[in-house]
Amino acid sequence: MSFFDEEIDRRDTHCEKWDKYRGKEIIPAWVADMDFKAPSPVIEALKNRVEHGIFGYTSIDDETHTAVINFIKRHHNWEIKKEWIVWMSGVIPGINLTCKLLNENDEAITTTPIYPHFVTAAKNTNTKLTQIPMREIDGRWSIDFDELEENINPATKLFILCNPYNPGGTVFTKKELTKLGNLAVKYDFLICSDEIHAQLVTNPKTKHIPIASIDEKFAKRVVTLMAPSKTFNIAGLQSSFAIIPDRRLRTNFRKELRGLGGDINLLAISATKAAYKDGDEWLGELKIYLRENLKLVEDFVKNNKKLKMLSCDATYLAWIDCSNLNVKDPYELFLKYGVGISEGKRFGDNNFIRLNFATTKKNLEVILNRMQKAVDNA
Ligand SMILES: Cc1ncc(COP(=O)(O)O)c(C=O)c1O
Repeated sequence: MSFFDEEIDRRDTHCEKWDKYRGKEIIPAWVADMDFKAPSPVIEALKNRVEHGIFGYTSIDDETHTAVINFIKRHHNWEIKKEWIVWMSGVIPGINLTCKLLNENDEAITTTPIYPHFVTAAKNTNTKLTQIPMREIDGRWSIDFDELEENINPATKLFILCNPYNPGGTVFTKKELTKLGNLAVKYDFLICSDEIHAQLVTNPKTKHIPIASIDEKFAKRVVTLMAPSKTFNIAGLQSSFAIIPDRRLRTNFRKELRGLGGDINLLAISATKAAYKDGDEWLGELKIYLRENLKLVEDFVKNNKKLKMLSCDATYLAWIDCSNLNVKDPYELFLKYGVGISEGKRFGDNNFIRLNFATTKKNLEVILNRMQKAVDNA
């Protein structure tokens, strides 16, 4: 039995994912966290810190910074400096803060469908946002760079990138990222690169490349957002950071954060350090387990001619096209059969659903059986 086969009751643990359908015969497969325990070094570190018993004001030690720097070097071959790191409680605040760096009448651009908080960050900051559609290119979701360039105007000052891509699981190649970086240089805009899923590339033939690591010209205009939260399933601890190599950009970002509770909390520091130092083995096994789960989902989709999904190289979130089911709302259909999936319309396309498959195989099989019944009766 794999570590990830352990079934853990998450009800009554302040768990957003399971609380949503409290008391109902519905299995949740929506919000992006996993039904797995965090790596044991993380749990041990938290226990030790709690045992200490004093939880006063906090500072982030060098060892934690070194753990982050080494982890990023090990996994992404990118050498970052301690002073480039700006700690924050979440990646969503990082997206909002980057939007706040824009001047009045500056505009932003991103893709669609997209993680909904990209759109809300623009709304929160009164930023006009243009969204260009992701296109099916060679069996995966990608960006049509000609279309992107056509949509850039003199007011465009920010591109919000999701890499790896949510929803859809695309890992952008060096060639694609270089095209984007070159456009940013040519038209002088910033890139907010949300790389929260960077370590969840499950296809061994693909690897994540931080866009800022490709070229110093790009790095100067990029705010990279990363976190241990998705990778090690510790979202509730609220630990994340921006990596901003350019001093002026970083100073402006920090100014926006001033007085708003930057930094991360005491337990988040212990968990982050332990995860980045000692979590690699767990992470390697997790990715194998997720890949096997992905195969179950892909087989399910293949067996149902009315469903479709493209290559999902990263994340544990399957983006499934339900347009041929000819139902008004695929989310409602699956809900009726006892599965609570993410609604495609939240991401910008009502014909799709987003299925979170980071759960035990046993639970995933029940989910897929219920979904099969739903499809058969659609
Ligand atoms: C692309 C992306 N960015 C950000 C987040 C959330 O980040 P945080 O919880 O650190 O604010 C998620 C969570 O699903 C995500 O998928």
